[in-house]
Amino acid sequence: MLRKILFILLLADLLYSPSTIIAQKQDKPVIARKPYLQSAIADSLTILWRTNEGSSCSVAYKSKSSTDWKYQKGQIRKTNTGLIENEVVLHELSPSTTYEYKIFTDNLSLAESETYYFKAPLASNTKSFSFFAVGDIGEPIEEGGTPDKLAKALAPYKDSVNFGLLLGDIIYPDGRSKDYDVNLFDHFGGVFPYVPVFTVLGNHDWHKPENNYMKEWKLPGNEHYYSFDKGSAHFIALDTKNGEMYDYKEQLEWLKQDLQKIPDTTQWRIVFLHHNGKSCTYKNDYEAVMSLYPLFEKYNVDLVLNGHAHTYERLNPMDGKGNVTSSSNSIKYSSPKGFVSITVGSGGKLRGVGTDPTPFSPDPENCEYKGLVAAYAHKWAFLFLTIEGNQLKAEAISTENHKVLDSFSIEK
Ligand SMILES: [Fe+2]
Repeated sequence: MLRKILFILLLADLLYSPSTIIAQKQDKPVIARKPYLQSAIADSLTILWRTNEGSSCSVAYKSKSSTDWKYQKGQIRKTNTGLIENEVVLHELSPSTTYEYKIFTDNLSLAESETYYFKAPLASNTKSFSFFAVGDIGEPIEEGGTPDKLAKALAPYKDSVNFGLLLGDIIYPDGRSKDYDVNLFDHFGGVFPYVPVFTVLGNHDWHKPENNYMKEWKLPGNEHYYSFDKGSAHFIALDTKNGEMYDYKEQLEWLKQDLQKIPDTTQWRIVFLHHNGKSCTYKNDYEAVMSLYPLFEKYNVDLVLNGHAHTYERLNPMDGKGNVTSSSNSIKYSSPKGFVSITVGSGGKLRGVGTDPTPFSPDPENCEYKGLVAAYAHKWAFLFLTIEGNQLKAEAISTENHKVLDSFSIEK
């Protein structure tokens, strides 16, 4: 009997010794990827994060002004890198309202010291909002990439933008899931938990996208191409694959129908995609993209945002034939005919640096298209855009020193 008691005491001591407690703590789910926000559309938004383990997840959330926390359960799945993806979809959010949230895996609050928050999707009658756009981001730092600098530069804008657009070539060298954390998410913890992003595929992301890109992002539609409304604007995301467009016929047909359906009350039409059409950078002109120009003109597209060339270049408005319609005042366009096209491939990789060492000095004067380029800056930069009623303003901002490298507006 005494032996039995001694054995139980010994066992109890073993179970509750400090080393056992530490071991137990280490068995808790640990955050492996901070939360990021997806599919922020209508009254809904998806919060995703990753842990080393876990079998259930949920989010607690409340509007900033309230004290009542609501809880929403989510789904868990094992990822292709062995981590656990936690996914919670929130519905019935009050438009434009700021919410605070906490994430839970296995009922444990993760990263308790951080207060995360987001702005719910905009009300449909919202006339004023901001967003950022930038492409060509996730180049490894040891190869001269600057995803860390971009993230640091974007972080102060997390309260002033409603969402962001990532213009493709998000992960170098070839868009594999295994590179997403080290080349992107590890750096963007000051941005992605607060600002929902919408992405498009670039040529470097086109490595079995269904097994990589689409495991990382949760996008509307078929995830290759899709559209959504934000306040008074309609956004269209396209997949240009290697420059020749993914499923060209189907995508073109979808694009036509999508453009046709935009109500007249929508003030702004914005297309984002990875490859450029006409340009004066070091990249080719992509005919598949140029073949969309007549549609852009016919359906009054205002702005086309792309990446691909690792530089910044803004073009004067073009018509459906790619002819410049207005180059007299390239800072302030008033009801311009046609669309303004901008390359913002200056996110995390710059031509002439690191693994892209070919020297590049932009020289629009010697471009075969005279008067096409309105502005350029061969520097690391992102685009910060604001829509205020009938005015769209955009600034290209240096990720190195926050200097405004280019600024223009469209009024209509
Ligand atoms: Fe590219």
